[in-house]
Amino acid sequence: MTTTFLATPPAWPVILLGRTKAIAAEPWDLDAAVRAGAFEGLKAAVRTGATGTIAEVGASGLRGRGGAGHPTGDKWRAAASNPADQRYVIANGYGADPATQIDSALLAADPWSVIEGLVIAAFAVGASEAYLIVRGDDTELVSRLEAAVADAEEAGFSGDDVAGSGHRVDVIVRGLQGSYMLGEETVLIRALEGRRAAPDQRPPYPTERGLWDRPTVVNNVVTLAAVPWILTHGAQAFAAIGTRDAPGTALVQLRGPGGAGIAEVPLGASLADITSLVGGAGAHTLKALVVGGPTGGFLPATALDTPYTFAAIRDAGAHVGSGSIVIADERACIVDLARLLTRFSADQACGKSIPCRIGLRRLSEIADRATEGTTRSGDAQLADDLAHDIAASALCDHERTATLALSSVLRYFRSELDDHLLRSTCPAGVCTPIAVAGGAASRGASA
Ligand SMILES: Cc1cc2nc3c(=O)[nH]c(=O)nc-3n(C[C@H](O)[C@H](O)[C@H](O)COP(=O)(O)O)c2cc1C
Ligand code: SF4
Repeated sequence: MTTTFLATPPAWPVILLGRTKAIAAEPWDLDAAVRAGAFEGLKAAVRTGATGTIAEVGASGLRGRGGAGHPTGDKWRAAASNPADQRYVIANGYGADPATQIDSALLAADPWSVIEGLVIAAFAVGASEAYLIVRGDDTELVSRLEAAVADAEEAGFSGDDVAGSGHRVDVIVRGLQGSYMLGEETVLIRALEGRRAAPDQRPPYPTERGLWDRPTVVNNVVTLAAVPWILTHGAQAFAAIGTRDAPGTALVQLRGPGGAGIAEVPLGASLADITSLVGGAGAHTLKALVVGGPTGGFLPATALDTPYTFAAIRDAGAHVGSGSIVIADERACIVDLARLLTRFSADQACGKSIPCRIGLRRLSEIADRATEGTTRSGDAQLADDLAHDIAASALCDHERTATLALSSVLRYFRSELDDHLLRSTCPAGVCTPIAVAGGAASRGASA
């Protein structure tokens, strides 16, 4: 599948995709990448030393792009400071959201930024083994990455003596195939160990007890791709981009009636500016943004001035999640979309904890009834209670985010939900056999 990178305003900084134009003709050619600046960050890290590299990444304020926004420097420091005979770093490029291709698109456009960031992380925390995880069904990507890693080793950027540092870092590419939950870090770790995979209770965090019970850093591939830039340009240059609490840039995948594609955006840019990259709702009226992928939340048009940062998006009722933003226009039924997302979340729950396993199934059934016109009295209150209780008893982050779809509908689209639950009408005319409010049905939905 080809994914388009969107043009962004000239004033917007470019960090993650900075080299992609220069190497577009030959993205898998190491020499071309080196001519365009690849592995300069690794050399800077080696000059700075392991402790200095962690300090630099910490000072940059880089937060994980895998969804939760955990400070990367803290993670590296924790892993490095836990005594161990071995440590590991895992680049999480699993890309669990089936509708989002950010990780694979970045890896295909500039694999070197991820490989370099992974080697820098391993060097910094004292890990001699580093894993690069991608989806196993993308066999072409797996074999191209294996060849790229071999080229990097041949050139001395990994292997026995990383960039003349005397440190050993072996990079191993693994294609893994499984459910949505496999993207969660503790599941990923168990899968790498060849064990049956379900999320582990944390703490202990992987930085204390991870792969084969050794301190392990798990970072998203986009997080790691920012690291070489930080080492080359300095922590302060990175911290000056974005916001104080969320510096740097992120990759977002946009889909709407006007267009689709992946864009690099400075954190803190407004949702209005970001969605305008694909023309907003185009000729239609924007109704909601589905922010965060299948476990994301629905934000109304009045939230368009929300800055795209981990905290602001969470406070608004969604999460950064997979980096997906879908533009839903007036033809979409938000209750129906929430039903689809809630069913996805219920289907993906691994079943280890009862509030998630049973609660999400009940929520999904309430959403089914709402769209089928078979609502029971008390469904609205039950949905409210369940959404709260499931999130409050979270064993893993899935439980915290899987209820966002319905809880954001309760927060912003209550009247549309009540139309379904109390009046058996679907204002958008999407749900049948529910009556259509105010006339003819229009089944089109952009999301
Ligand atoms: C259900 C679920 C699925 C996840 N899928 C992914 C994924 O596909 N890729 C990813 O990087 N992180 C995913 N995460 C987050 C990871 O557990 C972990 O926080 C992340 O890889 C850490 O990297 P970061 O600190 O660079 O963000 C998922 C979390 C959950 C709860
Ligand atoms: S919260 Fe849900 S997905 Fe997470 S471990 Fe429990 S049952 Fe599995």
